Amino acid sequence: MPQPSKTGTPTRTGTDTPSACERLTEAGRVLLAYFSRPGENYHDGGRIDLKVGNTQVVAEMIAAIADVDVYRIEAADPYPENYEGAVARNVREEASDARPAIANPLPSLAGHDTILLGSPIWNVQEPMIMRTFLESIDVTAATIHPFVTYAVSGIGRVERNYTRLCPEATIGEPLAIRGEEATRARPQVEAWLGRIGLL
Ligand SMILES: Cc1cc2nc3c(=O)[nH]c(=O)nc-3n(C[C@H](O)[C@H](O)[C@H](O)COP(=O)(O)O)c2cc1C
Repeated sequence: MPQPSKTGTPTRTGTDTPSACERLTEAGRVLLAYFSRPGENYHDGGRIDLKVGNTQVVAEMIAAIADVDVYRIEAADPYPENYEGAVARNVREEASDARPAIANPLPSLAGHDTILLGSPIWNVQEPMIMRTFLESIDVTAATIHPFVTYAVSGIGRVERNYTRLCPEATIGEPLAIRGEEATRARPQVEAWLGRIGLL
């Protein structure tokens, strides 16, 4: 899967310095930005140790199907691999309305008018680091399609929160995949990409 370059510019195969012509055709490109936490997590009422987070599985599926530039949101202070530790930290971050720092350089939004924004559901909404991300980039003219993986809550409060956080952006159709079904989600992902005009 493509990874962000050191400059924070999302990866495009073989395009370090786009030519004027390429820049002209760049309008309308799609940025896929996501956060995902590997480690111990909820799974069918028990626990599982995920080597690759569920949201990353879905993000990679999207990137394999659609023409997107990928940026992974990485926490400067990584979240605990232990489930209860991650829950406790999220409780603290929500209580203090925190904006956890992002480790990697932010992506350039130039030329991207659509953002596929992926995260797990934490306490029925997006992790607070998603707010750090949204408040750090200019999404004024963008359409944001949220996608989430979850255990029981579905999309939760994500659309409502993103609408409030980004009043000048358009919040488009979301996709919610149950974490346990992430590896089998290709039909849902394809159908969603088709509905939002990316296939
Ligand atoms: C801190 C934390 C809080 C969570 N809260 C919820 C929740 O409120 N509702 C829900 O359906 N799932 C919740 N989950 C489960 C995750 O949303 C689910 O396992 C998701 O697929 C994890 O994605 P990831 O592996 O990409 O991080 C929580 C998981 C963690 C670690």
